Amino acid sequence: MKKDTKIAHSGRNKKWTGQAVNPPVYHTSTIIHETVDDLKYALKNFKNKIMYYGRRGTPTHFAFRDAMAELEGGHDCLIYPSGLAAINAALMSFLSSGDHLLMVDTAYGPTRVLCNTVLKRMGIETTYYDPLIGGGIESLIRENTKVIFCESPGSVTMEIQDIPAISKVAHSKNIIVMLDNTYGNLVNYSPYEHGVDISIQAATKYIVGHSDAMLGTITASEKYWSHLYDNSFFMGYTAAPDDINLALRGIRTINARIKQHEASALKIAHWLKSRNEVELVLHPALSDCPGHEIWKRDFKGSNGLFSFTLKQGNDAAIEAFLDNLNLFKMGYSWGGFESLVMSLYNLKKERVGNNWDNYGPLIRLHVGLEDADDLIEDLDQAFRHFNNAL
Ligand SMILES: Cc1ncc(COP(=O)(O)O)c(C=O)c1O
Repeated sequence: MKKDTKIAHSGRNKKWTGQAVNPPVYHTSTIIHETVDDLKYALKNFKNKIMYYGRRGTPTHFAFRDAMAELEGGHDCLIYPSGLAAINAALMSFLSSGDHLLMVDTAYGPTRVLCNTVLKRMGIETTYYDPLIGGGIESLIRENTKVIFCESPGSVTMEIQDIPAISKVAHSKNIIVMLDNTYGNLVNYSPYEHGVDISIQAATKYIVGHSDAMLGTITASEKYWSHLYDNSFFMGYTAAPDDINLALRGIRTINARIKQHEASALKIAHWLKSRNEVELVLHPALSDCPGHEIWKRDFKGSNGLFSFTLKQGNDAAIEAFLDNLNLFKMGYSWGGFESLVMSLYNLKKERVGNNWDNYGPLIRLHVGLEDADDLIEDLDQAFRHFNNAL
């Protein structure tokens, strides 16, 4: 089956939906077991999507989990209340005191904070590695390295990682490869075709797709799924049925949306390349983007998220640019229908291993579903304010 067909049909097992197209949205904490035999059966089979207690899921959860695993790959999927909760659950399920974690230097900021605070307090040591290291990661592996965590493209600076090369080294040493696949969503990147063991999504972004719910997911290969399931439930993770319903609904239109995000973002990225103010356009499909060749090899497409750097700019000029944008709104998110902009001042100070200090100020865009020409006009008039304030 082709991708669009799978997207329309995934998770629609009659066991979950009955005669309806969509599964009912179960609002319940308690599951009633009529007989002791029923209860014993549920106790024995809750891992196989038999209802037992609300936190372990209902057909609302099971339909979404099936859809995710059918579309992203992996043995099965688990659901969390946010993307960051999913990242935390993945790391806490597999790391113990005394273990060593290799974390990509370009990880989403709060992932980094998690490593530097909670994981550190638990006695887990983190080494940040260059996102372009590829197979060279071998030199950083220690006796106690348990997990290599990837995020590709990197948050904000968009470096593409050579995940197959990293996975090859990791698997030769029985190290788990985790990927924050939020950019890859369900359309742009297939983690299990590239050696990933555990794939995490902030479903808050393109899966929900409408900026109206927060949710996280983890799919895992068969080898790791059962351990992840047990530990996630020991830690109490679950997610609310209305949010899951929104995410399942978001899945049905994800490819159609991504195609429009992609086309508009590419048009704007090319337009930015022609601007005098712009130094680099960090869009995976353009050659300025570090790791562009790997993107061409491994990804199935791009979406609405990319960054660019300016040749010059002071705080006043950047503020004038941001304050005068009308359609691009400032907000710490992406993946919804709306266009967003963010200037990231502190990025360079946080990261250990890159040369972004040599480049001008960085702006990140999320190109939404508005008309691309209107968005270009908006950027064009904001650049006039930028230039006047320089
Ligand atoms: C790459 C990436 N991963 C994870 C997250 C966290 O997701 P959530 O906001 O649902 O916790 C985000 C949020 O911006 C993100 O951009």
